[in-house]
Amino acid sequence: MRVGFLGAGLIATYHSKSLRRSGAEQECGVVRAGVYDPDPQRAAAFAAASGHTVCASEDDVLDGCDVVYVCTWTSEHPRQVAKAVARGIHVFCEKPLAISVLAAEEMAAAVAASGVTNQVGLVMRRSPAYVYARHLAMEPAAGRIMAVMFRDDQFIPIQGHYSSTWRGNKDLVGAGTLLEHSIHDIDMFRFVVGDVSRVSAHQANFHELDGIEDVVSATLSFENGAVGTLITVWHDNLARPSLRRAEIFCERRFITIEGDDWFGPVVWTDTDGAEHSVEGEALAAAAEKLVDGTLNPDGEFVRAVAAGRPSWPDFDTAAAAHRIVEAMYASAREGGSAQLVGPGRTSSSA
Ligand SMILES: NC(=O)c1ccc[n+]([C@@H]2O[C@H](COP(=O)([O-])OP(=O)(O)OC[C@H]3O[C@@H](n4cnc5c(N)ncnc54)[C@H](O)[C@@H]3O)[C@@H](O)[C@H]2O)c1
Repeated sequence: MRVGFLGAGLIATYHSKSLRRSGAEQECGVVRAGVYDPDPQRAAAFAAASGHTVCASEDDVLDGCDVVYVCTWTSEHPRQVAKAVARGIHVFCEKPLAISVLAAEEMAAAVAASGVTNQVGLVMRRSPAYVYARHLAMEPAAGRIMAVMFRDDQFIPIQGHYSSTWRGNKDLVGAGTLLEHSIHDIDMFRFVVGDVSRVSAHQANFHELDGIEDVVSATLSFENGAVGTLITVWHDNLARPSLRRAEIFCERRFITIEGDDWFGPVVWTDTDGAEHSVEGEALAAAAEKLVDGTLNPDGEFVRAVAAGRPSWPDFDTAAAAHRIVEAMYASAREGGSAQLVGPGRTSSSA
């Protein structure tokens, strides 16, 4: 199974290391194939660390692989995924799938029609903290989920360890904190609570980068009757690289995810008043029992390819998150009007 990479930056490096850690390489006969990045130094550094071979073009990578990771600027994803799908190559594409919901939906339709195994970088679906919190919220003892609050903040990612500035260019990134970063949160709302029927949102732009909002507040109505709120912020406090807090109110249980997105702690209180908490390795072990396979997104992707079966989260899951994001932007453009979330929503219909 020849695995190639398009893009050799931050997230490509993460996936390459994560695949190595997963232990699935030998099991699935993974061969580290080509990598292409227009920045030759990045490509060379990535190849030296990972065992991939630097290629002169994206076509050279695609002509020499069976599986490809698309880890480039968001605006490049649709074109590169289309090339991969045309060759029948299995594809892992980073989130967001595209800078527009229409393009994201087309990508989801294309991978479905071709039958290639597809997975998207909505990696929080395999976060022990979120997997376990979801389990707690779904236990009958908790009662129904009534309300959920998410807060997500980080310093604007055109500085510090990001070492690239494309997230300040709307042609490459599409928009700001909601699309680029909090599409993870939107996906977690769906994962933990359920489908979203209606939203409204407000946004602000303190950094005054054209088209790159740095604050969004949104409210959500879920099909199951629950309601939710999201605050997402890109600030300049370099001491806060990426932090989230989630509070889930069920009829008879209160759950919080604090600290680390991955290792918690997850804390919950039931009607008896006793506070329970789980974090770190214990949390990871408890969460892993709740999923098929492991919580490593890259190991599970190549295992799915090797077995000829679908993987998750797939492009359809991402397209659903894009529809909610687009409805929120439509609301913000109209000063916070209520917007229905539905299939086929595009910018022009918003
Ligand atoms: N899942 C996550 O949690 C997560 C985290 C970070 C980034 N991302 C996503 O991953 C993607 C890349 O982000 P990053 O942080 O790695 O950025 P980055 O700047 O570190 O790396 C992107 C690389 O893509 C290269 N590139 C641009 N156009 C290319 C092309 N046509 N062919 C090949 N390479 C090309 C750039 O030269 C750069 O080296 C973005 O879509 C981003 O939203 C996801």
